[in-house]
Parts: sequence; structure tokens; C-alpha cells
Amino acid sequence: MGRIPEETIEQVLAATDIVDLVGSYLPLKRAGSAFKCNCPFHNEKTPSFVVNPVRQSYHCFGCGEGGSAIGFVMQYENLPFPDAVKKLATRAGIPILEEAYDPEADQRRKKLSRLKEVHNRTAEFLHQQLMTSPDAQHARDYLKSRGYGRGMAERWKVGWMPENTNTFLDWAREQQFTGAELINSDLAGRKDENNPRAGIYVRFRGRLMFPIHNDYGDIIAFSGRNLREDAPGGKYINSRETQLFKKSKTFFALDKARRSMPKEKFALICEGQIDVIACHESGITNTIAGLGTAFTPEHARILKRYTKDAVLCFDADAAGIKAADKAFRILAAEDLNVRMVSMPEGEDPDSLIKQFGADAFRERVQGARDYFEVKLKHEMASRDLTSVRERASLANDLADLVACVSDKLTKDALINQIATQLGLGAEELRGGVVQAERQQSKEAFFQQRREAKDEEPPPPNLAAEISTPVAHLCHYALCSQEAQNWLGEQLESLIEPLASTAGGSILRNILSRRPDPSKPAAIQAYITSLAQQDQLALRKVLTHSAPGDPVRAAEEATAMLVNTHFQQKEAALRAQLRQPNLPPDDMIALMNEIKDLQSILQNLQQRFIR
Ligand code: GTP
Ligand code: MN
Repeated sequence: MGRIPEETIEQVLAATDIVDLVGSYLPLKRAGSAFKCNCPFHNEKTPSFVVNPVRQSYHCFGCGEGGSAIGFVMQYENLPFPDAVKKLATRAGIPILEEAYDPEADQRRKKLSRLKEVHNRTAEFLHQQLMTSPDAQHARDYLKSRGYGRGMAERWKVGWMPENTNTFLDWAREQQFTGAELINSDLAGRKDENNPRAGIYVRFRGRLMFPIHNDYGDIIAFSGRNLREDAPGGKYINSRETQLFKKSKTFFALDKARRSMPKEKFALICEGQIDVIACHESGITNTIAGLGTAFTPEHARILKRYTKDAVLCFDADAAGIKAADKAFRILAAEDLNVRMVSMPEGEDPDSLIKQFGADAFRERVQGARDYFEVKLKHEMASRDLTSVRERASLANDLADLVACVSDKLTKDALINQIATQLGLGAEELRGGVVQAERQQSKEAFFQQRREAKDEEPPPPNLAAEISTPVAHLCHYALCSQEAQNWLGEQLESLIEPLASTAGGSILRNILSRRPDPSKPAAIQAYITSLAQQDQLALRKVLTHSAPGDPVRAAEEATAMLVNTHFQQKEAALRAQLRQPNLPPDDMIALMNEIKDLQSILQNLQQRFIR
């Protein structure tokens, strides 16, 4: 059992309308008695994601995902169970009184929250250093020289890590941060991996420190910019991955941009943090950046929660084009539209805003063109297209990019558009695209296999096996009080068949706990309290519609269950009876047992089948 009492979970679910909840994230449309939209958990063109207001549950008929309001928040927000419950509780204004619980999960949570505390307090300390330390004058001057004042430094909690890192280490000791905590935050490393006694060193030194936040605004990492060209390490040093910080799902400034991305209907994606800051400071608040690493499908899925349009604002040089191609592949595969801002060579958003002002830059962003339009223009200008070979090679490159687009209509339109512009046959290009698709899915397959080999086996996420009559009985017991009562009365004669039928223990559990079928919240809370495999099995069962006469249906399913059980038992006894050289006593005993069974079966028919 989890640490939050089941009654509280029930309370939270009762106070949450799942249609309201899901509707606050996704564009739900009424479809009969339910609500529908495209599934956020897999790629699709026609909606198979259904929210059922009566059952207070959701289910995707495409990918099979489903669950309660809590399950939705867990999946959508990528939160562990207790956090999802807390989020819904806060939304509904319900206080959570916690029980004693899973010590391991508690330990993990404590550790994470401690690491967040280390980060947040460190950011505050480094910020104070930047604002007040006499040694940080050059850092303040540097910011000023780039056109930034105190306001910006405060809003972004920019800090300065002293050259003399003892200043930081002494402070950390005073705060009672342990060496291990500093190492686990990647603020420090061991001087000698093999000798813990050798001490630790600070990873950032004499750098301007930009905090990196998660989407809730907690600080989870830092990016440090050097202030001297000859500083060791690169221009920027980012924290390495920690338990808190996963680069594959973090954007710089997402916490500040998440609200305005849906409003502006696009995300402006820059290459550098300073560029993001420059944009926000001049009111372009739907701006984010990656963290110097390539985008991942995870990034694309996160982005898709807020908007379907990504506008890339990358350098105009060859490296920028290459980065844009890479980003395009990832984003287009998740069905995001990609546009590109045309940038003068050698400039970035920060430099453009400084030179020409925010309005000029905003206009430039408004003029962003479709990715392929920009790409084609660039390639046509930089290649000699009178050469047949060059044209073929360009067609190949483009086919490879078009193959990444997941929307079929868009893909077709692109093929025609590109073929026309290059003076190629559309069918020829389509052939190239199909070939590229094959190649890509082959690569994805091998990639997945490699990853599967590297990873630990995932936790069992398969639904528990459940035989058809038991599945039906579980369904009736959860949707009708009468059926549940009737089954409760039959419990004694059901115990033996249930013990030997797949899923029997799930039904027994329902009949002993007896959640109230008239309260969807109670049913969802009950299901939530079960083992993962049983939850999945029940959720699947509950996607069927309720029968008109549940007691009658329960009688029939019970008859089927009990019949099957005793028939199997009879068959097993008969098989024993056929054994050669059976002693006569055993034979008689077996025959008696079979006779008993037959009379049970006959009684059953009279009892259950009307
Ligand atoms: P400024 O030079 O301060 O204007 O920063 P910038 O953001 O314009 O830098 P630049 O265009 O050179 O790089 C863009 C982004 O790439 C940076 O914001 C970093 O995220 C990343 N980056 C650049 N240089 C380095 C480096 O040496 N190491 C790492 N890890 N990332 C870097
Ligand atoms: Mn720059």
C-alpha cells in the first residue's frame, strides 16, 4: 500500500472531474456520452483517446493507455503516484494526511528534495556573490557591457562562482551540505575517484552562473559561462546529468515560457541561453533553448504539450543549418510544425535585439518561413544544380528529411512542392522518400534493440492474465451493486473455481473489499490501490459497456466459470482413470469423484441457467 490513505485518494478523485481535468490539457470534443481527442501518448490522426465522465476514467483504443484522473496526471506530467495525487489534491483544495509508508520511496523523495534544496540555496548564494562581492566587479561589468542590469540578474538569479572556490566550500560546509551532496548535485567532483579521502574540487570556477530550472521552477542544474577567454573548459560548462537533471527532457527557461507558448501558439527555440534571456527580457516570453545537446523525442513530446509549432532561431552558418536539420527530424517525427527564422550570418537573437531593438526582432520572428522553404532556398543557393549529380544528391538529402514527417498529407504536399522546385518527377522523389523511410525504420529498430540490451528489463507492465468469465464478473461487480451483492452470496461456491482460474484472485479481492459501484471515485481509488498488473487487467475490463441486467449477466458468467472449472476437473479425473494398471481401489475412488462432480454440474445447470 502507498502512503496516502485510500480514503484520501477517493476524496481527491471524487472532487476531480476527469473531463475538466483532461480538458484543461487537451482539446476534448464531445462524442456521444463521452469525450474524445487525439491521444497525447502516441502519434495519431484520428482521435481514439476517450474520456468517460460516468466512469471517471480515460482510455486510448489506439495504444491501450488508460486509467483514472491520477493515472492521467502521472503519465502526462511524468509524475510519481504520490505527487500526482498531491497535485490533484491541491487543485481540489484537499489536505493530505500521510500515513506511514514505503520507506524506500520516501528515501528517494527525501534525497531528491534535498538535492533541490542544495541547488536552490547555492543559486541564492552565488547570486549574492554576483550582486555584492567586491571580487565580482568584473562579472558585474561584463553583464553591463552586454546591456544587462540588476533587474535581469535578479529575474534569472544569475550568480558568480568565485575564483577562490573555498569561499563556496566554506559556505557549503556552514550550510551543512555534505561532500556527497555537492557531488550528487555535480557542483563538485572527487579529486581522486579511487580515494574518497583525497577531497573534492568545485566544478565551476570564476564563472557566471545561470540556473537551469525544471518546468515547475525548481533549480536543478547550472550553466556556467567563462569570463576569460583563456579559462579552462569551454565557453559554457553545464552540470552533468544527476538524479535531478536529465538533459534529454530539460529545456532552458521552459518554466518561464510554458504559459505563453499556448497563448502565442508557437515556441521560439534558440541555441543559446543568453539568447533566451534576451528574448524574455524584451517581452518575447515563449522562448526556450536546449542545453547544448541534441533534441530528443522526449523533448518533442514535452513541447507538444504546449504547442504544435516550433520556430527555430538558429545561426545562419553551416553548423546552424545542420543543427536545424537535426532538430527538424526529431520534431517532425512527433508531428510538430517546424519553421525557421532567417538570421543574418554571424548574428544571434541577443546581438540582433541589442542592435536593432526588440520590435525589429519580433518582426523577424513573425516572418519565420516553413522549414523546407528555407532549406530549399539555402540548398539551391549553395549547390550547383545544373549538375545532374548534385541535383540527385540534393533530392536524396531532402527525401531523407521528408521521410521524417509523420503526417501523411503534409508529406504528400511536400513531395509535390519539392519535386516542382527541383524539376524532378514527384514519383521519383516519392520513391526516394519510401526508401528513406525503410532505412530509418530499420535504424530505429536496431537502435531500439541496442537500447533494450543496455537497459534493465522494464518493470512488469503487462496486465495480469484474466479468464473471460472472471473478467466479466469483475466488470459486473464493479459497475452494479446488485451484481456485487449477488456474487458475494455465491462466494462459497466460487472459492474453488476462482482458486484455479486465471484472474480469480482479482475477483475475490473485489468481493472482499466491496468498493461502492455507485461512486466512480471509490471504484477508481480501489483500482489504484491494487498491484500494477491487476490494475491494468481491470482497466481493460472496464472499457466494455455495462450490461442491461447485471445480475442476470453475472449469473450467466458464473455458470460458465463454474462449469468450465468442473468440466476441466472431470476431464483430469477421466485422464487419470485411463492410466494403465490402475489399482482397483483407486479406480473406484476416481469413479466416485467423477459421479460427485457430475451431480454438482447438474445442480449448477439448474441453479444458474434459467
Ligand atoms: P554568448 O557568447 O554569451 O552570447 O553565448 P551564446 O549563447 O551566444 O553562445 P554560442 O552561440 O557560442 O553557443 C550557443 C549555445 O551552445 C550556448 O548557449 C551553450 O548552450 C552552447 N555552448 C556554446 N559553447 C559551449 C561550450 O563550450 N560548452 C558547452 N557545454 N556548451 C556550449
Ligand atoms: Mn551570443
